[in-house]
Amino acid sequence: MTDTTASRSAVPTIELNDGTTIPQLGFGVFKVDPAQTEKIVSSALEAGYRHIDTAAIYGNEEGVGRAIAASGIPRDELFITTKLWNTEHGTESAFAAIDASLGKLGLDRVDLYLIHWPSPAQDRYIETWKALEQIQQQGKARSIGVSNFLLPQLTRLLAETDVVPAVDQIELHPALQSTELTTFARSKGVQIEAWGPLGQGKYDLFEVPEVTGPAQAHGKTPAQVVIRWHLQSGNIVFPKSNNPARIAENFAVTDFELTDAEMAGITGLERGHRVSAHPDEVN
Ligand SMILES: NC(=O)c1ccc[n+]([C@@H]2O[C@H](COP(=O)([O-])OP(=O)(O)OC[C@H]3O[C@@H](n4cnc5c(N)ncnc54)[C@H](OP(=O)(O)O)[C@@H]3O)[C@@H](O)[C@H]2O)c1
Repeated sequence: MTDTTASRSAVPTIELNDGTTIPQLGFGVFKVDPAQTEKIVSSALEAGYRHIDTAAIYGNEEGVGRAIAASGIPRDELFITTKLWNTEHGTESAFAAIDASLGKLGLDRVDLYLIHWPSPAQDRYIETWKALEQIQQQGKARSIGVSNFLLPQLTRLLAETDVVPAVDQIELHPALQSTELTTFARSKGVQIEAWGPLGQGKYDLFEVPEVTGPAQAHGKTPAQVVIRWHLQSGNIVFPKSNNPARIAENFAVTDFELTDAEMAGITGLERGHRVSAHPDEVN
């Protein structure tokens, strides 16, 4: 096995509002084929990643669990996130959903359990959140958070429940930064996780001069520059790749630093461009 001790220890951690810490850089497995998941997650663990982001709906929690078990890595060195799917809103459904996910992962607790989407048309996310508060008390999730909550849902959750979410995991990349939401969330102690950090490869992010210029200057790839921009912006990220070379590439981002001008150039790419579903429309 390659010695990745140095690069692994270089991954910054962020303290969550419940006192736990999360590695700021992880590996996401959305659209990783369940049949390939064990192999791909194993190559991520070998590359040095210790934070894996999955979800019940991805259908690959079992593969993630097998890779964890086969790795021999002590459980306390790993940070595992999974998410409650939209059909499982409500108290009893949430209790069943976490048990099903833990069973598939082969774990007795996850490090972070998220409501995947608020599903506003169902109007049950307050009830579901209160169930997650109990799931945390039971020790089945060390931290709890939300995903795809926009300002109206986050504001309401903070007003009507007791535990402030540790994170809000939202679509976030240079062309969609949702600054009003991230500023509000951070002011309340909610850390921001950026999903689709590379824009899911759906626009010309890797070809614009604001990204290719710094890539050339630092001898890095455009993807590494974008991931570095997230880290220096304070976002938690877990880029996905099926390709072992890219998996390693995306992890090699702790040995250079973007200048203030390079950061500003990439931040200037904001154009309110959503590449995936709007949270109001997912129910
Ligand atoms: N909460 C939510 O609703 C939600 C929604 C979406 C995603 N997520 C989470 O966020 C994670 C990341 O987001 P994402 O997977 O949607 O998108 P992403 O990480 O922004 O982009 C993944 C795409 O970029 C390509 N890619 C990866 N590394 C590359 C590199 N170094 N150079 C060129 N292309 C590269 C991948 O292709 P290859 O695989 O071919 O390398 C894939 O097509 C997910 O895996 C999931 O864990 C959460």
